[in-house]
Amino acid sequence: MADATLLAVRNLRVEYASSRSLFGKPTKPVRILDGFNLDLRTGETLAVVGESGCGKTTLANCIARFIPAAGGEVVFEGLDVLPLTGLALKAYRRNMQMVFQNPVSSLNPRLRVSAIVSEPLETHTSLDSSARQARALELLAETGLEASFIDRYPHELSGGQAQRVALARALALNPRLLLLDEPTSALDVSVQAQILNLLQRLQADHRLTYMVISHSLGLVQHISDRIAVLYLGELVELGPRGSVFATPAHPYTRALFAATPVPDPRRRRNYVALEGAVPSAANPPPGCRFQTRCPHAMERCRIENPALRRVSADHVAACHLLGDTHIDDKEIKP
Ligand SMILES: Nc1ncnc2c1ncn2[C@@H]1O[C@H](COP(=O)(O)OP(=O)(O)O)[C@@H](O)[C@H]1O
Ligand code: SF4
Ligand SMILES: [Mg+2]
Repeated sequence: MADATLLAVRNLRVEYASSRSLFGKPTKPVRILDGFNLDLRTGETLAVVGESGCGKTTLANCIARFIPAAGGEVVFEGLDVLPLTGLALKAYRRNMQMVFQNPVSSLNPRLRVSAIVSEPLETHTSLDSSARQARALELLAETGLEASFIDRYPHELSGGQAQRVALARALALNPRLLLLDEPTSALDVSVQAQILNLLQRLQADHRLTYMVISHSLGLVQHISDRIAVLYLGELVELGPRGSVFATPAHPYTRALFAATPVPDPRRRRNYVALEGAVPSAANPPPGCRFQTRCPHAMERCRIENPALRRVSADHVAACHLLGDTHIDDKEIKP
């Protein structure tokens, strides 16, 4: 696997306008990501993990340019894509595709599979309709669907089949990067494994880079190269899969492990399960954002938000319990 950076998220800020207060006054926008940094290396699978509501989909939607950023940069192959418009934005969209959590509702219910899969070809290429149809059949075969599926409508597909169609559509323009937002969480367990295997095969065949979003560490344990753990819009741990699984450094990561089936259950016993819910993004706690749920919270945690510190080569975490080898966010480089 090459080590070059394909995509770099730099100081990203994303806000949602919040609804008006009871008295009709507009309230402050809610800041979901505030100075967020993360790199994606060419050819890797980076898992982004965290409980529901921590900002994973917001991050992917902003990278995909579906929602605007309030500040920062998303640098793809050296170019900040946030200011792009027109043809330059279209070119970025060829290179980066998103696959959504609910496969059936992500497909246009009024279109047959043939039109769904060939739609990007119509928008972005000069292929005529028979060439588009031929390419659509090729893409279905690659995603493990028989040619007869070409005439079906989304409601005639199972969840797994619909996710295969969504993948066929995503691959139509030979992208370099796929953002996969909980790609299997709406599927039956037996189908989940098939889709994960398919993703691995497609990645090898097309030299794809993946950012896979999941609320569960269990799902990503077989497919990720590195794991990024998010809590309430902040990166709390980032490292190689083996290192994060063997020596999770952040109390939140350990709590996620407590809820995850792991091969060695003895390890899990040491970890304290999570209690309570994620605090509201509109009113995050001061100091460390995890302090309201952390079994190790100290006075310092209520005042000072911990910076990312190096745990070992390529592995960082943000917690006051870790040593004092302070590093700047900018140092999280491939
Ligand atoms: N369109 C929106 N408008 C306002 N708030 C939103 C919107 N989408 C998400 N949020 C809020 O942003 C936070 C992060 O949500 P999201 O990115 O969907 O998290 P995740 O994908 O990790 O579950 C949550 O507090 C959620 O309520
Ligand atoms: S900084 Fe404090 S509250 Fe935050 S995770 Fe570490 S010990 Fe827990
Ligand atoms: Mg989500």
